[in-house]
Amino acid sequence: MDSSYFMPTRVIIGDDCIFSNRALLKDLGEKALIVSGKSSAKANGSLADMARALEANGQSSFLYDSVMSNPTVDCIYEAAEAVKREGCDFVVGLGGGSPLDAAKGAAVLALNPVEKSGLFSAAFTRALPIVAVPTTAGTGSEVTPTAVLTNHAAKTKTSLKFPALFPRFAFLDAKYTLGLSRATTINTAVDALTHAVEGMLSRTAGALTDTLAKESVAVVAGCFGALSGDRELDMGIRQKLLYAAMLAGMVIANTGTNVVHSMGYSLTYHRNIDHGRANGLIFAEFLRAIEQKEKNSDSKRIPVILSCLKVRSPDEFAGILDGLFGKKETFTAAELEQYAEQASKARSIANGIFRFEKAELLDIFKKSIG
Ligand SMILES: [Fe+2]
Repeated sequence: MDSSYFMPTRVIIGDDCIFSNRALLKDLGEKALIVSGKSSAKANGSLADMARALEANGQSSFLYDSVMSNPTVDCIYEAAEAVKREGCDFVVGLGGGSPLDAAKGAAVLALNPVEKSGLFSAAFTRALPIVAVPTTAGTGSEVTPTAVLTNHAAKTKTSLKFPALFPRFAFLDAKYTLGLSRATTINTAVDALTHAVEGMLSRTAGALTDTLAKESVAVVAGCFGALSGDRELDMGIRQKLLYAAMLAGMVIANTGTNVVHSMGYSLTYHRNIDHGRANGLIFAEFLRAIEQKEKNSDSKRIPVILSCLKVRSPDEFAGILDGLFGKKETFTAAELEQYAEQASKARSIANGIFRFEKAELLDIFKKSIG
């Protein structure tokens, strides 16, 4: 069984785990740049907990709280400027994928001055130490070497991916996710699900990533009932989703994403549809397309995925997603043509086990949201 796996982030899970493990932060330096969105880190308590831990250690910090959804290249340059101006030694990201990815961007740019025009073609080997505190359960960015940024030049989202971007520490405390709306919880859970499933459908999938992915899919699937109901999502469900999202992050840390993410990025860039929802809108149709391709192939991954999801067919899974997402957005033929063209050129689309031509991508788009 040939396989390899690499993920150097130390993961700490538990209630009040930042403060209980604050000694870990001491070696990172005297001053932290804390990166967050405008309000969520203040509202969910993660900012206060991090500040309390740093203060108890005798460390200082500067707060950069201007990260928007789907952070831009300008945003990470601004955060990197703050690192240098404030003399910070390490970077702490508090939030969903956007602040975590912006923190990674700032940490790498602080040590590697590069022109904006050359950002996506540069190779980076060093970054300041990164600490990640996820406050949504979806992105998995706390355990990946990836920062996804809005790339206006290419009119889509583009990733930086280097081992130096793995966080040094990831602190997972599910209480920060308790206040998330049901819609955000569903979107982020489905994002995690696409990470795990795309990982299983990656050319670079192996025994280790498959083990993590199967567990992640099964845990999220076990939460479908709670997500589709109207009872409050309790701490037990929150812990499961945060754990599953981290597992899925551990998968894509090694496999990357492929077809679904390549397609979903256009919906987010052009129509501002939430990242997880964008993926979810096309997810079931993508599984149907893979099922068709597997009929003429030795690959038999779909039955494994359906078994983890505890459904009998992609149709049954589509019904669950439809129930979670409600009415879908619609798109014109011209929009979908443009998105299929863009997705067909995405670097990561070639990572899937099957090649998808532009016409096939367009077909998935049309059947999903045409
Ligand atoms: Fe994602």
